[in-house]
Amino acid sequence: MALSSTLGVPRTDAVPRHVAIIMDGNGRWATQRFLPRVAGHKKGVDAVRAVVEACAARGVEYLTLFAFSSENWRRPADEVTLLMRLFVHALEREVARLARNGIKLKVVGDISAFEPRLRELIADVEARTSGNDRLTLTIAANYGGRWDILEATRRLLAARPDLAAHPEQLDEAMLSPYLSMAYAPEPDLFIRTGGEKRISNFLIWQLAYTELYFTDCFWPDFDAEQLDLACKSYRSRERRFGRTSAQLKAPADVSSNGG
Ligand code: IPE
Ligand code: IPE
Ligand code: MG
Repeated sequence: MALSSTLGVPRTDAVPRHVAIIMDGNGRWATQRFLPRVAGHKKGVDAVRAVVEACAARGVEYLTLFAFSSENWRRPADEVTLLMRLFVHALEREVARLARNGIKLKVVGDISAFEPRLRELIADVEARTSGNDRLTLTIAANYGGRWDILEATRRLLAARPDLAAHPEQLDEAMLSPYLSMAYAPEPDLFIRTGGEKRISNFLIWQLAYTELYFTDCFWPDFDAEQLDLACKSYRSRERRFGRTSAQLKAPADVSSNGG
């Protein structure tokens, strides 16, 4: 299981092992061009393809993309329908490329809300790419960070009903294996395009010690060059995980969590 940033000090490398992105600004990209919002979502799929390849080429091991939040159902019904249709088409069209390029696809979120056709397609693409290990691409769809934590708690309590009578025994290490991204280390670098500076109920548990990067670039314009700017910013950060700067420079005795 991946090391938690609060239970220990994770390994940090020059290249982020795990990049998590809120792909925002599709609608505004289209509106600026007097195009319907869906044109921005379509162009956004092209950006996904480019960024997946760029991440794999740079040695990023996990890329997680926020495609549809648990709150995005609040959008006009026709936009929601179009987004679902686009998701289906993208999976159908990209599966061969993903399989060929060594990409493992995972989907996290409450997919029970999706229509059967989409659920089957997700299962099919996950199965067809499960043997790949060049890059794990996770699509967060109907995902909410609060949903994730609640769902993990429900599943833990179902497996360990005795905990209800002994709540003092509940700790982080017990809960985290039930979180939807337990297979991945916590994100090293979070990127949000589109200019907003908020988390919007993305991976709220997992982002505890993630480096945050915000850019005004709209998602359809995000490319390898933009990714490199984010990675450059990431390399300039001092990841202290609660320690002092001096401790980082004399790393001999700083690996424990204290206590
Ligand atoms: C992100 O772009 C895509 C989804 C949320 C599905 P938006 O559609 O939120 O674009 P803006 O923020 O309205 O420009
Ligand atoms: C966050 O973007 C969700 C996705 C990119 C899928 P939103 O556009 O939905 O976020 P808010 O509403 O501006 O916070
Ligand atoms: Mg938005």
